[in-house]
Amino acid sequence: MPKTDPIIEIQETRHLDSTLRPEKFNDYIGQEVIKKNLNILLTAAKERNAPPEHILLYGPPGLGKTTLAHLIAKELNANLKLSSGPAIMKVGDLAAILTNLSPGDILFIDEIHRLNKMIEEVLYPAMESGKLDIIIGKGPSARTIQLDLPPFTLIGATTRISLLSSPLRSRFSGGVYRLQYYTEDEISTIVKNSAKILGTIIPHDASLEIAKRSRFTPRIANYYLKRARDYAQVHKAEIDKDVVDLSLKLLEIDEFGLGVAERMILEALVNMFNGGPIGLNTLAAATGEEEATIEDVTEPYLIQIGMLERTPRGRKATEKAVRHFKK
Ligand SMILES: Nc1ncnc2c1ncn2[C@@H]1O[C@H](COP(=O)(O)OP(=O)(O)OP(=O)(O)O)[C@@H](O)[C@H]1O
Ligand SMILES: [Mg+2]
Repeated sequence: MPKTDPIIEIQETRHLDSTLRPEKFNDYIGQEVIKKNLNILLTAAKERNAPPEHILLYGPPGLGKTTLAHLIAKELNANLKLSSGPAIMKVGDLAAILTNLSPGDILFIDEIHRLNKMIEEVLYPAMESGKLDIIIGKGPSARTIQLDLPPFTLIGATTRISLLSSPLRSRFSGGVYRLQYYTEDEISTIVKNSAKILGTIIPHDASLEIAKRSRFTPRIANYYLKRARDYAQVHKAEIDKDVVDLSLKLLEIDEFGLGVAERMILEALVNMFNGGPIGLNTLAAATGEEEATIEDVTEPYLIQIGMLERTPRGRKATEKAVRHFKK
């Protein structure tokens, strides 16, 4: 099986995602504020013997939204039904999902910002009062029938909360929670726990090295752990800091956790444009990247680690970036 096949790689990562997913709330590291709020929400709901109100989880990819939904369902001893914005294409699809729910079920809709308007309109009354309005027939003979839905909890997840309409957002009366990036120590703990699940161990300096380069994101950290484990296995070695360094070097991840795409942006900014400021479109043209990719994917991490600034006059490299990338 060639390792470079992107589809196989994604499937493998997904598979690993679910095997490394914590099974208990206690093993869900960090996000303390969210955990405290959810604890109250879930405990109160359990005491009332009613499903909790609808919950929206948002934040960058790989921070643990789907994992949290699984844990909530587990905590409530409830069925979790999984769907996603792009998968619900017609009003009929949503109606089928909703009418198939049993009392107390949890419906998880991933990428909920991608639901279209007509489907949102059907979702509002379902969320608010547990009613499903369906139009039967066409033209003058069309009529609406209303079905009562069993009590359920919707958990929505999105990486792009700004694309969610405000009527939809306001219906998540159980809370709208933003997942935070993790600290290095938290990621290091997650990596150690994941190593344990994989049946191996990783020394502290090695898990900390992965943490430093993982963009504060558990999914990336787990992916690097897996690469280090492969490297160790092939070289008949144990996972240690050297193995982590060597395997990340092979992946072209530098000491800041920057990959090829991020380095290209910073090198262009520092060396072609004297550090900036320059407009996003110029930077995109010079590097052959799409503006949206730079803005949504590449830049946020560079800003976070203090390598790049967004100014009114455009993108600017920080002193730290100039020091590191000046040729
Ligand atoms: N708090 C955590 N503690 C331990 N492991 C975690 C935590 N958060 C995430 N993970 C790990 O990271 C992986 C990715 O998390 P998850 O799939 O839940 O992210 P997500 O926010 O749903 O991402 P996406 O937006 O891409 O759907 C999980 O499979 C799990 O192994
Ligand atoms: Mg997810």
